[in-house]
This record gives sequence, C-alpha cells and structure tokens, in this order.
Amino acid sequence: MSGRAEFGRWPKNIPLQLFSPEEWSRQRPTHGDADPGLIAAALRWSQQRPSGNWYTFAASRSIGRDRPLSTTIGGIELVAWRDERNVLHVGPGACPHLGAPLAEAQVDDSALICRWHGLRVEATGSARWCPYPSYDDGVLAWVRLDAIGEQPPTDTPIIGPRPADTTVHAVTRLTGVCEPRDIIANRLDPWHGSWLHPYSFTHLEVTQAPPRHDIIEENHRFLLTVTFRVTRRLGVPVEAEFTCPDPRTIVMRIVSGEGTGSVIETHATPIGPGPDGRARTAVIEAVIANSERQGFRHARRVLPVLRPLMTHAATRLWRDDMAYAERRYQLRTHRR
Ligand code: FES
Ligand SMILES: [Fe+2]
Repeated sequence: MSGRAEFGRWPKNIPLQLFSPEEWSRQRPTHGDADPGLIAAALRWSQQRPSGNWYTFAASRSIGRDRPLSTTIGGIELVAWRDERNVLHVGPGACPHLGAPLAEAQVDDSALICRWHGLRVEATGSARWCPYPSYDDGVLAWVRLDAIGEQPPTDTPIIGPRPADTTVHAVTRLTGVCEPRDIIANRLDPWHGSWLHPYSFTHLEVTQAPPRHDIIEENHRFLLTVTFRVTRRLGVPVEAEFTCPDPRTIVMRIVSGEGTGSVIETHATPIGPGPDGRARTAVIEAVIANSERQGFRHARRVLPVLRPLMTHAATRLWRDDMAYAERRYQLRTHRR
C-alpha cells in the first residue's frame, strides 16, 4: 500500500473525505503481511473462547407474536415464538405427539397449538417436550444448546462491545457451505479488505495484529485504518478493531472516526449437514450504528429506509466473503 489515504482538505466536521483513487492492481500487495501461520494462530485462539453454549439464530424483530419461526442449529430442529408479554420461547421443532412441525402451529399466548391434532405445547414444557434456555438481547435472538455446545453453560450469551443505544441496527442472514470457523477465518484476515472488496474499502492498513505465539485476551485484536468508499473519490476514513468475544463471533468496532462505537457483529451458527453431507453455516450479521452527530437522531426516524440500505451493503460484501469461506472449507475438507 502506498501509505495512508491522502485526504483532501475538507472541514473536519464533514465525515466524507476526498481521497486520491488508486488503481486496484496498483495497490500494495498484502500477501506478505497476511501470514497464514498468524491467521491460523488467531483462529485457534478464537476457537478456545468460551461460548456458554449459546447460538444466535435470528434477528429479534424477525420473531413476532403472530406465528412461530423455524430454524435448525447443529442438526437440531427448533421453533421460536413470542408470548403476549413479548417473551421469547425456543424449543424442539417437532410436536411430541407425532412429530408435526411446530413452526406451523398456532400461537396461543405462551403455548403452541399443533395443527395436526390440536396438542397444546406449553412454553413451560412437559415430560415429552422440554424448552431450551433462550435470550433476546434486543438485536438478536439466542438459544442455549448444551448437547452440542459441550462447554460449561452460562446464564446469558457472551456479547461483545455494543453502543449503549442499539436502536439503529440491521441484521442480515446468509447461508454458506462451510463451517463456522471458515467464516471466522475470513474475518481474521483483514488484509483481503481492499483487494477483495474494492467497491467498499480503500486505503486499508492493518496497524496491529495478534502475535503468532502466546495470544491472550489483551493482544488478540486486529487494528486497522480503512476508508469506507461512498463514491470513487469520496469515503469515510475510520479506525476499526476486530475482536472475538466467543468462538463463533467476530466483532468489528469503529474506534475512531465517523460512527465511533458502531459495531458489525458477525455470528456464524452451524446449521448441520446439507443434503450433500457438506456442512451448512448461517452467517447472522448485525450492524449496530452509533454516532455523536446531531443528524443521527433523525436516523431513527428513517429506520425503515435505512435498514434495507444497511442490509444491502452487508449482503454485497458477504457474497464475496462467503465465497472466500466456502473456498477455504472446500480446500481443507478435500485435503482430508
Ligand atoms: S402431531 Fe401434534 S398433535 Fe399430533
Ligand atoms: Fe471481507
């Protein structure tokens, strides 16, 4: 890379800055810095993080009181719904009578009424149907599955740093043919940013990376400076950090520049094998925006417009990142 972005002399209080565009092929190659051994060490460390056996599976707002939501985690079919007090409930997705999908049941306050023969499945559970611990953090819905997590359970999920006010957020969900660790490995390689996503990032410089050995809580983060592209010559320069609060999550947090405190939480939740026997993983990405800026209060009002825009931007990035993760999975499972 030819050094930091050469920003134009725009007033400091305008987040958009002019930068001199550089041709994609003229960027400084980053393969020398993107040390495979370091990325592997950072991944190994992240995989040893405690999870408390919690898995996120959906945006909080995607679970309403009108009908249940169906999902699968680690091959376990689940049903999720809300009662009249908005409390989230999650349990096995098959009716204990003859196995009807409870995602098709009718919600009746805290119970589900099965469509096949009318069995009332209470959220409190019974001898034949036992709910799982669930948690709603206001942005994401979580379930604790001790049978597949195999770790000491915790009362609540381990959630990374977030802005105090999480109102302005958007959640994207994509599915890929890979395992959660492939998703995390993609994010633990920040050096691919302006090469693979030139439409979104430019002048990306990794200023701090974990050591190859003896990674600990205090030194595991990546720090980088990057300009989010808005047009060919205009962008928003920021400084961001990447951290792993649990083995299936990586958080990018803006630490200085426009939107300081905003986070992008990337969660990788194993779905289980697909019909071809290959692993499927859901990527659930939450963008939680924060800004000290005056106009930001208005962002709440335009949320219905803002949400699809935020989701669209994340989806475009994710098509390329998913291809990276799937490629990694394909190569490592083929070799095996
Ligand atoms: S299968 Fe649900 S009541 Fe019979
Ligand atoms: Fe990427």
